[in-house]
Amino acid sequence: MTNWRDVESRVFMTTGRRMPVVAVKGEGTRLWDDDGKAYLDFFGGPATISLGHCHPVLVAAIEDQARTLIHVSNAVYSLPQLKLAQLLIDNSCFDRVYFPNTGAEANEAAFKLARKWGKERKGGAFEIISALDSFHGRTLAAVTASGTPRYQAPFTPLPPGFVHVPFDDIEALQQATTPQTCAIILEPIQGEGGVIVPNPSYLPAVRAWCDENDILLVLDEVQTGMCRTGPLFAYQGMNVEPDVITLAKGLGGGVPVAAILAKEHCAVFTPGDHGSTFGGNPLATAAAYAVTSYMLDTDMPSRVERASAYLVARLEALRKRLPGISGVRGKGLLLALVFASDIADRVVLDCLAEGLIVNNVRPNAIRLAPPLTVSESETDEAIAIMSRVLARTFEAK
Ligand SMILES: Cc1ncc(COP(=O)(O)O)c(C=O)c1O
Repeated sequence: MTNWRDVESRVFMTTGRRMPVVAVKGEGTRLWDDDGKAYLDFFGGPATISLGHCHPVLVAAIEDQARTLIHVSNAVYSLPQLKLAQLLIDNSCFDRVYFPNTGAEANEAAFKLARKWGKERKGGAFEIISALDSFHGRTLAAVTASGTPRYQAPFTPLPPGFVHVPFDDIEALQQATTPQTCAIILEPIQGEGGVIVPNPSYLPAVRAWCDENDILLVLDEVQTGMCRTGPLFAYQGMNVEPDVITLAKGLGGGVPVAAILAKEHCAVFTPGDHGSTFGGNPLATAAAYAVTSYMLDTDMPSRVERASAYLVARLEALRKRLPGISGVRGKGLLLALVFASDIADRVVLDCLAEGLIVNNVRPNAIRLAPPLTVSESETDEAIAIMSRVLARTFEAK
């Protein structure tokens, strides 16, 4: 049998650490490795496998579109792209859409949109404020906006015009604002930063500050969008209406596709400003249309609320039983189990050995982002594994 991990170490430009799993097949919440071992996938891509692995509705949409038209240049109209655009507009507060391929690219488009808006509508304002511990992707501008210095250090000098403030601190944001500020970009809930939910008053206060100072509010919903936190978009449950949002991850249920949605007043792109060969490609947008329609037709927000309540109740029960757990945080099916010490690395490997995939989003926290279709019995199974692993870990300490 080929040792694929050896092949990787010989031929790959390694940019990240992998778990010791060679994944070969997925169905619903389950993944199988090349030894035939099954795992419950509570990492989900991360937070990307919205309908579960290889959902039949998504597979059928991809098969149909692959037989019809896989790719065509954006120099012509394409039906899947237009149908998806209309569906997203009909179900949000926005007026216009553009389709990139990834979350980082969607944020790049948002930075360009904000800069052009600042140039044309706000006397050349170009500064973008973002939060410390945020994550907006790995392109040069996205990594600059991300408040994560270790991702930036190898690539300095960084592009100018990005300012960082602590998350969930309205005063810091107010102090960092200058006449040159054109936009504020925030994740409604910081995902990679550790599943950090801001105070309920924070985003409405940011909105009010943006209104007072003529600043665009961009919410990066790459991780929180597409029912991950319950509503189709997280902003819909957080008492705030942004000017722009960016989407990716769950939008295609595993197929690479992203979107930027903007209100008319700041939709300032005109022909020649932006573009992408693959952006909004028929195959990708047909997949995203199938995923989005399925979510709307099956009332996915209610399903996520129920699945979340079930999972949170069991995590809370675990917390009461095991004093080494210090908290449960998050919203919908974007959750973190927080420990009193830095044991997350070990917990991830021990869960993996028992057939559960979770991720060490912080040294002291694991993130749980299962498919939105996760069943109660799968949740019970995952909880039983975590319970065994954690009881053993805390005993050994
Ligand atoms: C909030 C947020 N923005 C942007 C990105 C980058 O998305 P992508 O990896 O598709 O470029 C991520 C990825 O984790 C994310 O969580």
